[in-house]
Amino acid sequence: MKNIKEYIVSPELKEYFKFVPKLRIAVLASGNGSNFQNLVNLSKEDKLDIEIVKLITNNFKAGCIEKAISSNISYEVINDKDYKSRENFEEEIINLITENEIELVVMAGWMKIVSEKFIDSFKNRIINIHPSILPSYKGANAINNAFINKSLITGCSVHFVVPEVDSGELIIQAALPVKYSETINILKDKIQTLEHIILPQAISEAGQIIRSKLMDKY
Ligand code: GAR
Repeated sequence: MKNIKEYIVSPELKEYFKFVPKLRIAVLASGNGSNFQNLVNLSKEDKLDIEIVKLITNNFKAGCIEKAISSNISYEVINDKDYKSRENFEEEIINLITENEIELVVMAGWMKIVSEKFIDSFKNRIINIHPSILPSYKGANAINNAFINKSLITGCSVHFVVPEVDSGELIIQAALPVKYSETINILKDKIQTLEHIILPQAISEAGQIIRSKLMDKY
């Protein structure tokens, strides 16, 4: 993990909430899966009260698959290219999430835009991590765009998912200075380090909201 001297996380959660039973989450990922691995580690070390019930990926070449196998986490490859329509593809994922009684869906490097129907199926129960200080640099290539644009501060955000891409209520953000004496790869590493701090915190926060709403029903 890169050692970052200058950064700010807001809001700063002093400790994770306790969930008994553990919060049932599904992770949606399309790539390398470093965020996924970080969650697996925190869960196995009993630091974060989550049960990663499923990893779902749309990419059969994604690095997260190897990580799921070696960590003994159940995973499913649901490749959009195998489906006639986005609706059919999403239906498969919706069914999987529903069957597994998932409380929170975590998009950690999920590179497919989801439909309103998908979002409505898990209203206020989907969160996404994005490598910029939203609302700046929405969409793909956020870090490159911040770098090309010569932004002096950038970072990462976790937010609830709504139909408009990379929008929705923010849960937590981290910011750091951009140093142009350093390469973009160093910046990417630093942002990833901050992601590994804020995503678990956001899960804890979102889980707390979800569980307390559940309690309100009784
Ligand atoms: C992360 O940097 C995440 O913020 C980004 O993909 C990366 C996945 O890394 N997500 C997006 O750009 C979504 N718009 P990982 O596979 O190593 O966790």
